[in-house]
Amino acid sequence: MQLNLAIIGLGGVGRGFAELVADRGVALLDRHDIDLKIVAVSDAFLGFAFDPEGLDPLQLAQLPREAGALAALSGGQANPDNRRAITEKVVDFVLEATVTDPVTGEPAMTHCNLARESGKHFVTSNKGPIALDGRRLRREAATSRLGLDYEGVVMSGTPVLRFGRECLAGCRIDGFRGILNGTSNFMLGRIEAGATFQAALKEAQDLGYAEADPTADIGGSDVRLKTLILAQEFLGFHGAPTDIEMQGIAELKAEDVHAAPAQGRRWKLIGEGRRNADGRILLSVRPIALPLSDPLAGVGGAMNAITFSTDLLGDVTVSGPGAGRRETAFALLSDILGIVRMAVPPRYNLRKAASQ
Ligand code: HSE
Repeated sequence: MQLNLAIIGLGGVGRGFAELVADRGVALLDRHDIDLKIVAVSDAFLGFAFDPEGLDPLQLAQLPREAGALAALSGGQANPDNRRAITEKVVDFVLEATVTDPVTGEPAMTHCNLARESGKHFVTSNKGPIALDGRRLRREAATSRLGLDYEGVVMSGTPVLRFGRECLAGCRIDGFRGILNGTSNFMLGRIEAGATFQAALKEAQDLGYAEADPTADIGGSDVRLKTLILAQEFLGFHGAPTDIEMQGIAELKAEDVHAAPAQGRRWKLIGEGRRNADGRILLSVRPIALPLSDPLAGVGGAMNAITFSTDLLGDVTVSGPGAGRRETAFALLSDILGIVRMAVPPRYNLRKAASQ
């Protein structure tokens, strides 16, 4: 089955996705019978390109980071044209990988609305529209019988949203507690090992973990958006980012971070949500000195983890990469495969399975 994709935003994640298509195209065709073709790309800085036969994914992944660089491709131009990329008739899926705006959700919100109006499935790694208006976007996509998914908005490619929705579907989730920001977790580990705050931040930026503006990583607002998304998904919370009390890692004292292990503790930036017995939902983002026996205390580097508190299983912890270009690109690929599977469920041959 051929799927034609439009990529909006050819930054690290968009390029990472093009690289995945270049590397995995043949395997995806063999294993999933899916032939991914990137037919359109639009980027505010690089311009626009369209080829209904498919653009070369490797060329996209390696495109020079120069203004208007997409003009060099056949069907390319120096000016972006997001609207055309999304609405071109041959496009089946819109893949949105622009920078998160936590206040307006734009431009991703407009892209999501336009994709739905144009009858396109939509996958994104952008937290903005999902945190601010996810409920409406999901409802409208479902009403239009279109796929909408966003696994990469929490813990990049580690399947935590799908895990909660599908694997824990029979449980009641009473709360969650997570390390949800790779940059700050990496930095806390480096600070505990003796690095200064600034050196640790520079390392996290060089490794591609930090947001374009790292204030969101160290100030806690990145975790706040993720906590909001988790609370909406799993606790039925309705509200805005500002409803969640927030403290980042910037005010933590280095000496406290150094001293904690000797006291059997380790500092982590924790996003937490809990439904009380009276039904009230309590949400917070703050550094906590966890006991070393807590599964989250052992999660180091840019790794992330979430512990779900459930009625039938007790606590269940999922850990894995929480940031990175390739990891987030994988999340978008997993969203596309998930939507295809929903639309075309595999036929399970009971007789064949029984004889194996
Ligand atoms: N800057 C984020 C992090 C990327 O460090 O976790 C994923 O949202």
